[in-house]
Amino acid sequence: MEVVVLETPAEVASLAADTIEDVVRRREATGTPAVLGLATGSTPLATYEELIRRARDGRGPSYEGVETFNLDEYVGLPDGHEQSYLATIRREFTDAIGIQPERVHGPDPTEETLPAAGERYEAAIVAAGGIEVQILGIGSDGHLAFNEPGSSLASLTRIKTLTATTRKDNARFFGSPEAVPHHVLTQGLGTITRAGHLLLLATGEGKAEAVAAAVEGPVSATCPASVLQLHGHVSVLLDEAAASRLVRRDYYREVYSGKPDWQGL
Ligand code: PGA
Repeated sequence: MEVVVLETPAEVASLAADTIEDVVRRREATGTPAVLGLATGSTPLATYEELIRRARDGRGPSYEGVETFNLDEYVGLPDGHEQSYLATIRREFTDAIGIQPERVHGPDPTEETLPAAGERYEAAIVAAGGIEVQILGIGSDGHLAFNEPGSSLASLTRIKTLTATTRKDNARFFGSPEAVPHHVLTQGLGTITRAGHLLLLATGEGKAEAVAAAVEGPVSATCPASVLQLHGHVSVLLDEAAASRLVRRDYYREVYSGKPDWQGL
């Protein structure tokens, strides 16, 4: 795992944006557009805004043909609800950057077809050629996507029940914890670790404990994000506050500062 400790959330966003653009450019050059794994939540917003800014300034790559897959989706929201994750990612990122709506995917929470929704989503990811780079946030309880503590490290896309902590964390989008749906569809930890490159973003003191458990604690379903330790290509981008509980913080800084310019994440 490469742990990169940066000073500010803006630096985290800028490095994450560089990484996404590299993938999009590299794949464009091969004639097969990139497949990006996107996360919703507050943390990746600054990265999306940075990518949109660069695209508007004419500095970004072309997103023509790029395909995206969300990590998760609420179950039980009325059709077209503005807090659905598909609506959110379109509003916050893909529409503005010019990715066609039909190439923006998320698990399908339609009630009538719910039992097979996980399997269908897995098949759609495979059919697209797999996710090349997956953006991830981390929950204050160590969850990854909506894989709450106790989730199988090998799990695939399925229905999960949110913990009270997560419903409280997400209440800001719904007005109250009671209004947050209890159930979700989420990529499993096994799904996430099939992506080529995992890019975990965390900023702020509130994430420091979860980041330390994920990066330096034991691999355990108790901290779902610790599954990252089993993947061959992981970049953990942190600001100072999110890195504040890491024991090997100085070592990570030393490694990153000695990195040659030609070597990306
Ligand atoms: P946040 O959510 O980026 O809004 O903090 C992260 C998560 O819950 O996975």
